[in-house]
Amino acid sequence: MVVVSVILATIILCVAIKIYLKVTTRWCESATCLVGKAAIVTGANTGIGYGIALDFAKRGAKVILACRNPDRAEEARLKIIKESGSANVVVTLLDLSSFESVDNFVKTVTECEERLDILVNNAAMIEFDGCRLSKDGYVLIRQVNYFSVFLLTLGLIGLMKRNESSRIVNLSSMMAKFAYNFEVNDLYKFSGTLNNYSVTKLCINLFTIELADRLKQTGISVYSVNPGNVDTDILTGRYTSGPLKIMVKLVMSFFLKTIEEGAQTPIYCAVTKGIEMYSGEHFEECRKVDRYSTVKVPELPKKLWDVTEDILRLQLENMKVKF
Ligand SMILES: NC(=O)c1ccc[n+]([C@@H]2O[C@H](COP(=O)([O-])OP(=O)(O)OC[C@H]3O[C@@H](n4cnc5c(N)ncnc54)[C@H](OP(=O)(O)O)[C@@H]3O)[C@@H](O)[C@H]2O)c1
Repeated sequence: MVVVSVILATIILCVAIKIYLKVTTRWCESATCLVGKAAIVTGANTGIGYGIALDFAKRGAKVILACRNPDRAEEARLKIIKESGSANVVVTLLDLSSFESVDNFVKTVTECEERLDILVNNAAMIEFDGCRLSKDGYVLIRQVNYFSVFLLTLGLIGLMKRNESSRIVNLSSMMAKFAYNFEVNDLYKFSGTLNNYSVTKLCINLFTIELADRLKQTGISVYSVNPGNVDTDILTGRYTSGPLKIMVKLVMSFFLKTIEEGAQTPIYCAVTKGIEMYSGEHFEECRKVDRYSTVKVPELPKKLWDVTEDILRLQLENMKVKF
């Protein structure tokens, strides 16, 4: 009897949480058409990136899926074409764990594309265990989630400046709130497992603020976004397999947004007209929210920018980035 009551109570709780999520999730209501526009979505083969890329394709944009694995990327491309009815979807390979790959990506895109209206820096990783280094010698998660995002974005600014207006959307996380022991001069170093993810997302928020400031005189606006807690592989799929994975995904699906729901705020920031005055700000649930206390130190965005530029000096010079 007790067991049945516990099971019933758990089911009721799960359903109540799911209903709460459905009621509180806000949707991007903009009907902006993207015909004639071009968008890049990094990590678009799965998860939130896939949801964003699909929406852009439905709106008529040329969508460039910037993914590291050619097979997974091609599979996603065909799925997006089928679901959206638009054939204007291409893959360009990008591995954020390699500066060479970022460099090649920027060269390919700037040579082949006439315009770039939207850049969504979506791809990221979480590491719970250990501290792997990239082949460039940096803490892997910092290179993938932050250094390469910085490099990629600066490399594409020239192309984006050709338009009257364009948008950059940087995927952050509420984990940025919980970053601790953040020391700008220690960016090279590893500082604990999950905190490393939080630190990279804090860097994304700070980067967004400083970038917006530096782009003030251009038609480019930039936003950071917390998509909420979303049922993607980053949370539920990458660390389990077989029946355990199915169980974990089933249970977690009650507590998490769907991919389509999670894609709404990034889409909102990319397509909603008239939000340019909020360039540099942070968004959740399709609305601007207060900056997290971790980013409120006024001199921090510029300090982080300067240190990052120093770390990436060689790569920036190679890419001939002019800002
Ligand atoms: N899901 C959430 O609850 C949540 C919450 C807050 C913030 N976010 C943020 O939302 C964004 C999307 O996350 P998600 O949940 O959709 O994760 P996901 O399903 O794990 O997708 C991550 C994407 O990033 C790609 N990626 C990983 N490492 C890469 C690399 N070195 N080079 C290029 N691409 C790489 C993955 O490619 P492969 O498929 O090849 O691995 C995949 O396409 C991330 O920035 C994440 O931090 C997610």
